[in-house]
Amino acid sequence: MKNTKNPSETEIMMRQMVMPGDTNVHGTIFGGTIMSWMDIAAAMVAQRHCENPVVTVHISDIDFISPIKLGYHVKIMASLNYVGKSSMTVGVRVDSENPFTGKSRKCTKAYLTFVALDEFGSPMEVPRLEPESEDEKRRYENAKTRRESAKKLSEKLTKS
Ligand SMILES: CC(C)(COP(=O)(O)OP(=O)(O)OC[C@H]1O[C@@H](n2cnc3c(N)ncnc32)[C@H](O)[C@@H]1OP(=O)(O)O)[C@@H](O)C(=O)NCCC(=O)NCCS
Repeated sequence: MKNTKNPSETEIMMRQMVMPGDTNVHGTIFGGTIMSWMDIAAAMVAQRHCENPVVTVHISDIDFISPIKLGYHVKIMASLNYVGKSSMTVGVRVDSENPFTGKSRKCTKAYLTFVALDEFGSPMEVPRLEPESEDEKRRYENAKTRRESAKKLSEKLTKS
């Protein structure tokens, strides 16, 4: 396994189509279905980075921006934003695509954190992340800031 990896080595784009069983009472996609697809896509990115089993430990900043209609295509784009010692934070963006016009729209985004596990089920060290492009560097810095803010908030709430 390499000591350092670039986000572009592990990013993925996964496609689904909204079927009747994926919808809610409004006839658009059920939020839980999107969350499940996001978790799977993000887990695959984390696995590709550490080349070991991973578990989800945290999901943050999930926003449902626009609904997705029955029969539309769903594009799930996931890339590694940040790594700690054993943890990996993956940014996921979901767009819908009208299959008849090709027009796409941003629908959902979130950040999911995974921990790599060794053969005993204990957290294990993962390769470093080396962001290269401007976007990768921005995502890295933003993820770092979100982590630090979440830690400070958690400490503050625990104290009060
Ligand atoms: C993953 C697990 C073994 C880690 O155990 P742990 O005792 O929390 O281990 P640690 O305290 O050493 O934390 C390990 C890493 O996870 C991170 N972490 C743990 N909980 C976290 C949370 N809620 N949010 C963000 N990061 C978290 C820690 O910051 C640490 O990161 P680092 O190694 O990069 O510094 C344990 O939390 C677990 O089994 N959780 C349940 C996972 C699960 O069932 N998920 C759903 C199905 S996939």
